[in-house]
Amino acid sequence: VLIGSGRIAADIPVAIDGRKVFILCDTHTEPYARTLDSNLDCNAAILTLPPGEGNKSLDGYRRVLDWMLDHGVNRSSVLCAVGGGVIGDLGGFAAATVLRGIAFIQVPTTLLSMIDSAVGGKTGIDMPQGKNLVGAFHQPSCVVIDIDTLRSLPPRHMRAGYAEGVKHAVIGDETFFSWLETNGPAVLENDSARVVEFITRNLRIKSAIVAEDEMEQSGRRALLNFGHTFGHALETATGYGDRLLHGEAVALGMVMAAELSVRMGVCKTADAVRLRTHLEQSGLPVGAMIAGLRDVLDPDTLLPLMRGDKKSDGNGLTFILMRGFGDVFMQHRVDPVIAAAAIQTVKSGVT
Ligand SMILES: NC(=O)c1ccc[n+]([C@@H]2O[C@H](COP(=O)([O-])OP(=O)(O)OC[C@H]3O[C@@H](n4cnc5c(N)ncnc54)[C@H](O)[C@@H]3O)[C@@H](O)[C@H]2O)c1
Ligand SMILES: [Zn+2]
Repeated sequence: VLIGSGRIAADIPVAIDGRKVFILCDTHTEPYARTLDSNLDCNAAILTLPPGEGNKSLDGYRRVLDWMLDHGVNRSSVLCAVGGGVIGDLGGFAAATVLRGIAFIQVPTTLLSMIDSAVGGKTGIDMPQGKNLVGAFHQPSCVVIDIDTLRSLPPRHMRAGYAEGVKHAVIGDETFFSWLETNGPAVLENDSARVVEFITRNLRIKSAIVAEDEMEQSGRRALLNFGHTFGHALETATGYGDRLLHGEAVALGMVMAAELSVRMGVCKTADAVRLRTHLEQSGLPVGAMIAGLRDVLDPDTLLPLMRGDKKSDGNGLTFILMRGFGDVFMQHRVDPVIAAAAIQTVKSGVT
């Protein structure tokens, strides 16, 4: 993983010589794809998709496969995914499966993809039944992070990515959470030094967990899904659109998971309030800002969607709960009545 400024202009540490290079991007990241193309100077094929989660679909996947096959992809080809988590997850899945797998390089351009999705090797697409239900583990050959690309990222997406950073702090490290309480505003304002430190600390937490359980077999890696059982259900309920971004759904999901942890008797109310307060002060749609989401913040909507979550095993609901900062664990067979009560509490805006 390379982190710096102007990195897209720097060398990619994978031998490109003679290989056919494919660059996948969306309309917002196309300028960065063009820069990469001219720096690599290898006459890459470029596919520009419309922006949005809708690309992470069977249709989007097919489009990428058609493009690579029509442009003579071979087993030594390289796919570069220049964009956010959508382009990275989709491109990674296509790279994992075309010709049974070719090399790929992640060039993340959103805060979310820099601290989370570009590292760890999870790739995939969504299905009407739920998020990320089809995919593959496929590690990138390298990840090239250029923080200059964040200058064009809309603040709302900056905040959504920041939410995954808060998640890492809850999972990994109370001192990092305190650091966020002090330095979060500077990160969100794109202060370069703080952004680099933020990314580095996040990737240290994430990569340590992934290294212990790369294929999510021991359950350790599943801890990275704190906030995601509720979050994925919220995304499915809102149709994976602009109404609720992935990181925003995770923020709200973390508030619900913390409330559930309090109700299960494992977490202090003060810790749940501290988490919600920080998310709210960072401009994420939790607490009083959820007014526009009341229709989907409903146990009758969310509970059936959560039963379809990958972590659930037919024996009730599975959640990642928190005991405190730096201490999360997986809990199977959670009583849906308690989960419903946690949703209701968050909906009413009082914790
Ligand atoms: N694979 C994993 O481990 C993992 C982890 C976390 C999240 N995810 C997935 O990541 C996705 C969300 O990622 P995301 O938030 O990066 O979404 P995204 O890729 O949709 O990017 C968000 C928006 O920002 C635009 N954009 C990207 N870079 C830009 C830039 N530098 N300047 C201006 N605009 C830019 C995009 O065009 C898009 O409109 C979800 O599908 C989620 O499931 C995957
Ligand atoms: Zn996520």
